[in-house]
Amino acid sequence: MGKIMINGTIVTAADTYQADLLIEDGKIASIGKGLNRETHEIVDASGYYVFPGGIDPHTHLDMPFGGTVTADNFETGTRAAAFGGTTTIIDFCLTDKGKPLSDSIRTWHDKSRGQAAIDYSFHLMIGEMNAEVLAELPEVIREEGITSFKVFMAYKNVFQADDGTLFQTLLAARKLGALVMVHAENGDVIDYLIREALQAGNTEPIYHALTRPPVLEGEATGRAAKLTGLAQSQLYVVHVTCAEAVKQIAEARASGVEVWGETCPQYLVLDRSALEGPDFEGAKYVWSPPLREAEHQEALWNALRCGELQTLGSDHCSFNFKGQKDLGRHNFSLIPNGGPTIEDRFSILYSEGVAKGRIGLNQFVDIVSTRSAKLFGLFPRKGTIAVGSDADLVLFDPVVERTLSAETHHMNVDYNPFEGLKVTGEPVSVLVRGEFVIRDKVFVGNSGTGQYLRRVGYSGG
Ligand code: URP
Ligand code: ZN
Ligand code: ZN
Ligand code: ZN
Repeated sequence: MGKIMINGTIVTAADTYQADLLIEDGKIASIGKGLNRETHEIVDASGYYVFPGGIDPHTHLDMPFGGTVTADNFETGTRAAAFGGTTTIIDFCLTDKGKPLSDSIRTWHDKSRGQAAIDYSFHLMIGEMNAEVLAELPEVIREEGITSFKVFMAYKNVFQADDGTLFQTLLAARKLGALVMVHAENGDVIDYLIREALQAGNTEPIYHALTRPPVLEGEATGRAAKLTGLAQSQLYVVHVTCAEAVKQIAEARASGVEVWGETCPQYLVLDRSALEGPDFEGAKYVWSPPLREAEHQEALWNALRCGELQTLGSDHCSFNFKGQKDLGRHNFSLIPNGGPTIEDRFSILYSEGVAKGRIGLNQFVDIVSTRSAKLFGLFPRKGTIAVGSDADLVLFDPVVERTLSAETHHMNVDYNPFEGLKVTGEPVSVLVRGEFVIRDKVFVGNSGTGQYLRRVGYSGG
């Protein structure tokens, strides 16, 4: 039986209007007034915004990192994402040098198969470039529908690739119609600064930030953008945190180079002072790049508002405070990098962005959903409310006030970095391909109903 959603206010990246939605076979079958309600389940969306489901373009689930494995796997992570209004994630598939890419992709399928409550796809890490990797890429695109490749410019001796690898990945992406993503920090200089700090006996969490200054993010961002221009390729800079990086992206864009930028909720609402918390609490706020001084928040909001940054990823990479963040109690460089953000990404952008007047309502939808669908080859199946699109929908109460907390969140982790943050608005019900996953704030979905999404090639944003 199909569903008719009535009385809601539909909001897309382009429009806000009142209409009913007919949902059949998991898709939006019709949009209009006075649709025939017989033989359909009526869903009353009175008082709610009806948004396309959030698309989180940046997650790390079930990922080995920093001597441990993330606290959330595909089951717990996608369930928490659903509670938060996200219906699609794109997770990062790690690769190992010297191993076929297909082995790594198989590993990521094994982690996620039968686990996810929402739809999901993979980006692929490129750690080296050689004849074998080049030969495999067309198949990765054709068979797996993976059309985005991630290069790390930091994490020396772990994930870091050199500039030659980045440049060749950009060339390959141009030829094959893929989008290159970068973690832009100067890993070599950071490695030196970390060793220098530890030698001086500076082991507390704040030194994580002090050894990764904004200039090293700006430098790497500018370098990646210049290489993109030279390769006539396309680049997506993940987790932009600072004015220096925004400036490099804006300059590249102004000179006609196709560079896109993502920021994350933590950089919009938290600042560096969190790293100075007592009793090692600062470890909860260790991300790379690090939290910045508060004035950078305004630069990020301005960049979102004027389109110099286009998306919001959670960079969800959760580790428990007890037993995982602890690994770096006596050495900040051993604190696993990352935090739990998959659930609150959508609501923080609405509350801090729309409710506080920093961005518009349609712009919110673009940033939280539509633009990622376009950049990563999921549009128009995902990222909008249109006839023929998947019925991935969020019924959102825009006026309720609540407080974010580990006591009420659904992520599998013992703290919430946004603890105590008051937000306006809440996802009440969430549908994935026409089926409720969250209904009146209760999980009614199933692990395993989430489908793996093959994506089409890059065609701009
Ligand atoms: O600290 C972070 N961001 N952890 C996740 C891995 C990455 O660099 O995105
Ligand atoms: Zn019908
Ligand atoms: Zn990163
Ligand atoms: Zn990440």
